[in-house]
Amino acid sequence: MNIFIRFSRAALLLCMVACTTVETTEVSEKEEPKNPLMLHEKEIDDLISKMTLEEKVGMIHASSSFTSGGVERLGIPELTMSDGPHGVRPEHGRDWALDNEGTDSASYLPASITLASTWNPELGYAYGEVLGSEANKRGKDVILGPGINIMRTPLNGRNFEYQGEDPYLVSKMAVGYIRGVQDQGVAASLKHYLANNQEIKRSSINVEMSERALREIYLPGFEAAVKEGNVYTVMGSYNQFRGQFATHNEYLINDVLKDEWGFKGLVMSDWGAVHDTKQALEYGTDIEMGTDLNQMPNIDYSKFFMGDTVLTLVENGTIDEALIDDKVRRILRVMYATHMFDERPGGSINTPAHQKTAEKVAEEGIVLLKNDGFLPLSKEVKKIAVIGANADYSMSMGGGSSQVRAIHEITPLKGIKAVVGDKVEITYAPGFEISKEEAVNETLVAEAVKAAAEADYVVYVGGWNHGFGTDWNAGRYDMEGVDKPSLKMPVQQDELIKKVIAANPKTAVVLMGGGAMDVSQWLADVPAILFAGYPGMEGGTALAKILFGDANPSGKLTFTFPKSLEDSPAHAMGEYPGDADTLNVHYNEGVFVGYRYNDTYNVEPQFAFGHGLSYTTFELKDLKISKTGNTLVGNVTVSNTGDKEGAEVVQIYVHDVESSVKRPVKELKAFEKVSLKPGESKNITFQLNEDAFKYYDEAKHGWILEAGDFEIWVGSASDDIQLKETVTM
Ligand code: BGC
Repeated sequence: MNIFIRFSRAALLLCMVACTTVETTEVSEKEEPKNPLMLHEKEIDDLISKMTLEEKVGMIHASSSFTSGGVERLGIPELTMSDGPHGVRPEHGRDWALDNEGTDSASYLPASITLASTWNPELGYAYGEVLGSEANKRGKDVILGPGINIMRTPLNGRNFEYQGEDPYLVSKMAVGYIRGVQDQGVAASLKHYLANNQEIKRSSINVEMSERALREIYLPGFEAAVKEGNVYTVMGSYNQFRGQFATHNEYLINDVLKDEWGFKGLVMSDWGAVHDTKQALEYGTDIEMGTDLNQMPNIDYSKFFMGDTVLTLVENGTIDEALIDDKVRRILRVMYATHMFDERPGGSINTPAHQKTAEKVAEEGIVLLKNDGFLPLSKEVKKIAVIGANADYSMSMGGGSSQVRAIHEITPLKGIKAVVGDKVEITYAPGFEISKEEAVNETLVAEAVKAAAEADYVVYVGGWNHGFGTDWNAGRYDMEGVDKPSLKMPVQQDELIKKVIAANPKTAVVLMGGGAMDVSQWLADVPAILFAGYPGMEGGTALAKILFGDANPSGKLTFTFPKSLEDSPAHAMGEYPGDADTLNVHYNEGVFVGYRYNDTYNVEPQFAFGHGLSYTTFELKDLKISKTGNTLVGNVTVSNTGDKEGAEVVQIYVHDVESSVKRPVKELKAFEKVSLKPGESKNITFQLNEDAFKYYDEAKHGWILEAGDFEIWVGSASDDIQLKETVTM
């Protein structure tokens, strides 16, 4: 199989004009804006008509580690991809032999878990813009993100790459991200479709879930990304779904994605997720990536499932060539939509604007979980002890495929030093090592306790990490391919924290990580806790500004922080990690994922979905609902009743008063983040159409709106509902 070298865009443009007769599709200004994927069908017909079968097949599988094939003769370039989701990944060379020429750095944005905690879709857009611009600069056509798998278990090693447990929140954040990326002329790739909700045995498990859980919980984010975000590419996941691999799954891809939702872009496999030529051809895979990685660096791409075997199957009549044409058509649509045949906006890397976006996302995404009036901290002290290895550890290259070679990474320690200035002495004691062994180092513990005792107060920065260096198999952390073994933080940090607070109870705890951890042993004894996720290259600055009151926290949890693993539905009611023999994972908890479970089964969380404190106080009042047909318009006033500027996320949930099926007590159906000066009030308007009240009926194979009373609950967290109104549908 030929491997073609990428052409320059100018050469391409010339070639397209010279090599093909192009009829452009004119879009008059008066017409409705058209789907950018569908503007060049005639040119695509023309190109396909000129292609040999070999050339077509060359386009539907990888031509290198991160490219799929082009057709040089016709001026069709390779499609170049890069992870994703929170920065453009370092180069891995065409054949995975690391190829770092010092040109593969990028902005390390806060991980998706932190982005989602902002509850600010506009920041989702700004984040996507940075990614798109940097992808452009690095010569990428597709960014492999966003990741939007629902947080089904807190142990999933990739939760940090995803956006939490709620399908509505995920939908809003993902759409912003996708539009931001694609407005830069680069394609986003929505992943992982579908049910890649655990990493353990991700390539072999078979997920079984009810159609209702699929429709109500696991599909909405993907559907919104396709229908509202118009995402250009979708990545199939590794696992099986109802007995068929998700990357070539007839129901998920052909029936739901392409037929029901009308997706016109391309479906690529996850790397090495194709298992069968005929199924891949018939059940919707358009590009096969990453097969035979174990043969690197000598991979023969023509031997991929969607390589030479396809030629034989078409030639002997088993497969209709029209199937291949459809795949090529989808690839060409993405190429046109991403301006691979004309001029794309120029990109740039790590500009001050990109840094500002990274900092803003971190600032709005850090969640204040607990504060007994301890925060913000005073800078008017003599000595502050910063304790915990996470305070001075670079996270950007960790976690697996989402790694980024950050140009700079402001760790919490650096951020605190910069924000506090020279007048205060900062002592740093890591207290533990982020290393393969995970062994407690008693010398480090003793140093940390001493530093704590001698300081005016302590900032502890710990939690999860991405493991040791770039060794993917070194441990079980927030990392691709592995799940965490339990909710217990690594290296016996609970013991360390207890010793630190015994030495100095004036301790603020900052937790990093891709989700919840067990905080039960010391929660009551610390005056303040923050959850920072993975806050990216400016994260230390954002964190320090929050700690010292230069910024007011406004992040909200996108997941339920359980008291123990047993309180988490997949563990309490369902199966995790699945049956060891059959490899089936039954999602027995159904639609009762996250807060839907806690509410319905009266399980008190440690911190609830949507929870997040501020240094000011807010009041919600005057909820008014008007109804036209089955569409509601609501109004509510939110006021800043404290003395600091801040932002509140007004959360709107729907409660079905009486239903013929068991439904979650409440479901998030709208939200808005509002910034307010002290004393200021704003009136916000929200709209709920009838879909917000429906459930999926398995027997009727459709969404049902049951007549009767519903309540609109408005609050500042899922466990802090302040206003209710009843409506009759
Ligand atoms: C991951 C994907 C990633 C791909 C390419 C896979 O192992 O699951 O998320 O985009 O590798 O690096």
